[in-house]
Amino acid sequence: MKIAVLPGDGIGTEIVAEAVKVLKVLGLKFDMETALVGGAAYDAHGHPLPEATLKLAMDSDAVLFGAVGDWKYDKLDRPLRPEQAILGLRKNMGLFANFRPAICYEQLVGASSLKPELISGLDILIIRELTGDIYFGQPRGRRVATDGHFPGAEEAFDTMRYSKPEIERIAHVAFQAALKRKAAGKEGRVTSVDKANVLETFQFWKDVVSEVGKEYPDIALDHMYVDNAAMQLVKEPKRFDVVVTGNMFGDILSDEASMLTGSIGMLPSASLNSKNQGLFEPSHGSAPDIAGKGIANPLATILSAAMMLRFSLNQEAAAQRIEAAVQKVLAQGLRTGDIFSAGTTKVSTREMGDAVVKALG
Ligand code: IPM
Ligand code: MG
Repeated sequence: MKIAVLPGDGIGTEIVAEAVKVLKVLGLKFDMETALVGGAAYDAHGHPLPEATLKLAMDSDAVLFGAVGDWKYDKLDRPLRPEQAILGLRKNMGLFANFRPAICYEQLVGASSLKPELISGLDILIIRELTGDIYFGQPRGRRVATDGHFPGAEEAFDTMRYSKPEIERIAHVAFQAALKRKAAGKEGRVTSVDKANVLETFQFWKDVVSEVGKEYPDIALDHMYVDNAAMQLVKEPKRFDVVVTGNMFGDILSDEASMLTGSIGMLPSASLNSKNQGLFEPSHGSAPDIAGKGIANPLATILSAAMMLRFSLNQEAAAQRIEAAVQKVLAQGLRTGDIFSAGTTKVSTREMGDAVVKALG
């Protein structure tokens, strides 16, 4: 089992170190190799995704990823920005299916800005298409810009597009996920989010998802405009089960959904290709404002490692061990600053990682 470890920027290095620590005590044999990515790679090699890093990722069964980005790179020409590293990995590895669960941990109900009754027991799964849409539309690469901006230009544009096979494959992923969840007691509903009232691309999206839905008679399918979905997520989040949407809407809605739980520092994510090779990263970003302080929450990354074991490395038992250990440290009252509340014990990034290791038993 070969794992590429790409910590990246900001808090990335601190949180990934804790996840690696947890992986090392599972008693499994991993071949882990670390490489630079994002701003760290730009600083060292002049490119956010150096050839060697990409090759390492492509040759691995899974990538454990931290986060990329820092304000200090805002002036760079777009292809050199740290964010291009994650986009390049997604595109080159064909990681089209992005799983972003939003789960409310019972011990953390109070950390949400929503009323406890709205989010207690919340367990929704956002499935975001990750290699198409306006993110990878036509004008990419044809633009002439200096330092990421367009001095004197009169307009700028991006194009939104989806092909039928791209929509079909992500729709299948969503329906399959809903089937699995239904077997585990969930409702068995897919909500497809679009903007079919305005955008041709998303009328097409809606039609194709409906077609695929006919193959899954046991799963309920509904369609929702993205603006309404943004509203419903804060009004009645528990009405959702699996949400499937395009790259850009998924980017926005998954941030919103993650914060419902009060703790973006808790939420893992998985990005998979058709061979189940995957990239696993916390749902949060590089948080440069708290980098290097040893206070970041490593649990999202540790839980991402659990997802990696489950989805790409076929180690379900080990995944469950990690998840149980995380529940245990929460029950012990251990909290990093982002989820701290009165009556709990504040711990550092490293102390949290150590506690998970101990809780593995
Ligand atoms: C995410 C991030 C990325 C995205 C950025 C860093 C390119 O916001 O993974 O959600 O927009 O996809
Ligand atoms: Mg995002």
